[in-house]
This record gives sequence, structure tokens and C-alpha cells, in this order.
Amino acid sequence: MTEVTATAPGKLMLMGEHAVVYGRPCLVTAVDRRLAVTITETQSGKVEIKAPQVNNTQFVEKALKLGVKRWKIKHQGLLVTTQSPFSGKYGLGSSAAVVVASLKALVGLFSKKVDNRELFKLAYQVILEVQGLGSGFDAAAAIFGGTLYFVTGGRVIEKVENKGSVLPLVVGYTGIKSNSVELVKQVAQSRQQFPEKVERILQAIGKLVDQGCAAYIAGDWEKLGKLMDFNQEYLRDLGVSSPQLENLILAAKRAGAWGAKLSGAGGGDCMIALINSEVDQSKPLIIEAIRKAGGEVVEVIPNAEGVRVES
Ligand code: PMV
Repeated sequence: MTEVTATAPGKLMLMGEHAVVYGRPCLVTAVDRRLAVTITETQSGKVEIKAPQVNNTQFVEKALKLGVKRWKIKHQGLLVTTQSPFSGKYGLGSSAAVVVASLKALVGLFSKKVDNRELFKLAYQVILEVQGLGSGFDAAAAIFGGTLYFVTGGRVIEKVENKGSVLPLVVGYTGIKSNSVELVKQVAQSRQQFPEKVERILQAIGKLVDQGCAAYIAGDWEKLGKLMDFNQEYLRDLGVSSPQLENLILAAKRAGAWGAKLSGAGGGDCMIALINSEVDQSKPLIIEAIRKAGGEVVEVIPNAEGVRVES
């Protein structure tokens, strides 16, 4: 085979952001926006990358470099191209998805036997080498798909499933690109300055995630919504929310959402709201409220399949 395409899903953090950087769990779901990477064998003697949709091509470069080395791949030249249906601006995990899809395409092209755990280890290494920090939750979502209970660095990666109902979510984009690395650093600074207070918050978030996980498995969206609200309060205390996020969250709650919170590092990017499906018209009402409050609604379906080779 001289060409292989692999696709990997984006992600949404449901609960536990920031705390997951410090040994606590989070709940993350893969979403149906898939980023595709095609690797073609060439005779050019070099690795060429055409990745116009990716914010930072270092992720692809590093993935190829580490993958070639780790799996002792011999080649005469490679051309790597990406296609993405989602813009990096939303914070839906395009960097992790491009790393994971690049590694999977490489494995496919050279018929290497690599399981998901090994793929995760290498993908996480790539992300750490490029951005210096992070829990790896986004790489896990891109690889394993579904909804995951995930602990820092992949210490625990467990699929969580419920009795068949799809998580009823609405996603609102604030229009502001968040700088995840800066926000993680900001929390690290507060943790140094106020260790007891910040540790207490992180601990409490970890507990909420455990409860949220149980609510997810039971399909108890009302409870999950309440837990998300509590999670949001702690995120506000950590100082990572923003007026735009708060606006959209408030609008969704006023329109009847079970609960709403920011998703990801904060500062901007997206918020998520859980729809109260007992109320007719709940979804359109929340969508309208988010739009009126200045948000852009991003249509995604949670619980998407993990990375796969397409051809
Ligand atoms: O902003 P995002 O979508 O990259 O999410 C960051 C989530 C953090 O917990 C703040 C960092 C991490 O790597 O877990």
C-alpha cells in the first residue's frame, strides 16, 4: 500500500478540566467532527507536510518524527496531508486529533502492529514535547473514542457507557480563542500561591467527576447537569471562566438547561449545556438563547468512534 488515510475524532471535556492536570479524573467525550490525515509514500527523500487547517504543524512534524523512530520505519519520502471539517478555533481538540490520525496512518502504511495503549503513549509524548504540558485526555478521546473516565497521563482510561440514550448536549462557541497553555500555567501559579485553597478546589472537582460518571452511566441527565453547575462554580473560583462564557452559560440555564459549564481550559472557546428533554422544544429554546447571547452554536454528536484507518 502506498497511501493510507486515518481519521480521528475531536473531543469535548464534560467535567474535570484543570483538576485532571493534577492527578484527578475527568469525563471526556469524543465528537463526530473527524480530522483526516493521509500519508503517501514518495521518492522525495523528505517528509513534506501540507496541513493548512492545523494551527501548528509542529504536532504533525513531531508525530512523524517520533513514530518513524519508535517503529523503526524505513522510507524514501513521505507526503502528509490533512483535511478537517472543523476549525481549530473551537477548541475541539484538533491538535490531539491530528497527532493521533498521523500516527495511525503511519502505522497503517507500514503495517506495524501497535495497540491503542502504545498509540496513546506516543501521542501523549508528542503533545508534551510540542506544548510542554497537558493531561493527555484529548489524545485518549481521539484514540479510544466514546466517553471516557480518564486520569492524568492515562493512568486510568475507562469507557463509560449508559443505557442507550445519547448525551443531550448543546455546544456554544464564545467567539474567543482560548489559550489553553496559558490558562494551565495560570492555575499552576495560583496553586503555588494558594496551595491549600487550590488543592481543595481540585479535590472537590475530582469528586464531582466521580459522581458525574455515575450519573452518566445511569443516564441521569438532571443530576449530571447539577454536577456540571457545581463544576462550573469551582472553575469560576479557579479564575478560568470569562464574561462571555458566563453569558452563554446563564442564557442556556435561563432557557431551561439542566446544567451548563465551560468546556476545556476556559477563557473562551466553548460552553456546553445539558438539554432538559422533558421539556418540549428544550433544544431549540437553548440554541436560540445561546445565539441571542452572542454565541455560535456548534453542532456535534458526542460518543463518536475513536481513530480508524479509512482506506
Ligand atoms: O482547552 P482544551 O480543550 O485543550 O482543554 C484543556 C483541559 C485542561 O484540563 C485544562 C488541560 C489538560 O490537558 O487536561
